[in-house]
Amino acid sequence: MNPAALSLEQAPPISVPLRFFLTAPVFGATAALLLIIFGGDALTSRWAPVTLAVTHLLTLGFLAMVMVGAVQQLLPVLVGSPVPRAKWVSRIMHPLLTLGIASLVAGLAGGGTGLMYGAIALLGSGFLVFVAVTASSLLRARSGHFTVTAMALSILALTITVALGLYLALGYTGAIPMARQYTDLHLGWGFIGWVVLLLAGVAYQVVPMFQITPDYPRPLMRFLTPGLFVLLGVWSLGRAMAMVPDVIATVAAGLIAGGVLLFALATVCVQVRRKRRLPDVTLDFWRLAMASLAAVVLTWAVGLTLDKLPGLLLGVLFIVGFAMSAVNGMLYKIVPFLVWLHLNNQRQIAGLSLVGVPNMRKIIPEPAMRWQFRVQAGALVLLMAAAVWPVLTSPAGLLLLLSMVWLGWNLLGALRLYRRTLRA
Ligand code: HEM
Repeated sequence: MNPAALSLEQAPPISVPLRFFLTAPVFGATAALLLIIFGGDALTSRWAPVTLAVTHLLTLGFLAMVMVGAVQQLLPVLVGSPVPRAKWVSRIMHPLLTLGIASLVAGLAGGGTGLMYGAIALLGSGFLVFVAVTASSLLRARSGHFTVTAMALSILALTITVALGLYLALGYTGAIPMARQYTDLHLGWGFIGWVVLLLAGVAYQVVPMFQITPDYPRPLMRFLTPGLFVLLGVWSLGRAMAMVPDVIATVAAGLIAGGVLLFALATVCVQVRRKRRLPDVTLDFWRLAMASLAAVVLTWAVGLTLDKLPGLLLGVLFIVGFAMSAVNGMLYKIVPFLVWLHLNNQRQIAGLSLVGVPNMRKIIPEPAMRWQFRVQAGALVLLMAAAVWPVLTSPAGLLLLLSMVWLGWNLLGALRLYRRTLRA
């Protein structure tokens, strides 16, 4: 992958992705506060109101916030197709999603039907805008890279996740009967369809480019994401609609697990063969993410064999271990890159030389990123332990809070440096 081939001149204003990136640690810190306050009650059952609230603070508040911001940035840069009127779209989408997530979380935590109705309206319209603008950009994409297919499928999976989520939320209002048979489908499409497909599609280009590794094998890039999508469809038809025999749905689930494991192994393999040997905190975040993803598959397989799935442990491994680590690591590449790129563009527009634009590696100090990585890894270990011994939930929450505050501080530092250099 040649960075020079990226369509940099089409990049949206820096405020577009940054407002989403800076909101994410706030939701992450709120999740940590709930863990501290509610302690063991937050990690005893999948269905506890506070557990559902924490789950959505992390999946929607942290992960979706970063991913929505990143997709708006990556569409022009990676697939050469900008979001139309990016500034306005982000100004509309950001408050709709932020308020929607806050209402959903409060509603799930037992805040009442008014909040749930508010969440349905706000999140429904926020995601509608996101899916519409992303789909229109992908349809116009000039690049034929496998990333385009992966992104398109992940957006489709997000649409299914959100539709199921809104339907489940309606069940909480009492307007329709509670449809718990769709909860596993909702999380399957959210985790595998939206999160894994999007991260895989982005990884195909970003890992070789930023971590100076060889490309992923072509057959993997061609078949993995469409294969996972089709298998998810088969699994869903069997799982909740009994439209395919049970045995086929089980085989589909096994193949999905195999595909996910393959992605983790392929990522580790390309990283092992990387050309630059300098220490890189993003690489450590990605190693942690891939180890967690492999652990999800193995824990799931063992749980299935013993007929005792450890749901909470799987959730912690997937959300905090895999998805948050990968996204956190990616933020440490994307944000310094954006600051550097926009400062560069501003100086070129003003006809100035590039002297004075800070080195990309200095925009967020390496020790600050590395310490936040250590705290986040510590939070993951304690959360995994807390999924088995709930008494550890509050200490785990404390570490997660520290990690989220630190991440926010590091990202704000990059923004402050951007403003300072611009003024100078
Ligand atoms: C508009 C967006 C969304 C809405 C309205 C929503 C709503 C809901 C609701 C109402 C439930 C509770 C279901 C029940 O009690 O049986 C639920 C469960 C769940 N949702 Fe969402 N959700 C949304 C997006 C997402 C996304 C994007 C993800 C993940 C990427 C996600 C992950 C989960 C998980 C993991 C559970 C189950 C928790 C458990 O079983 O422990 N949700 N969602």
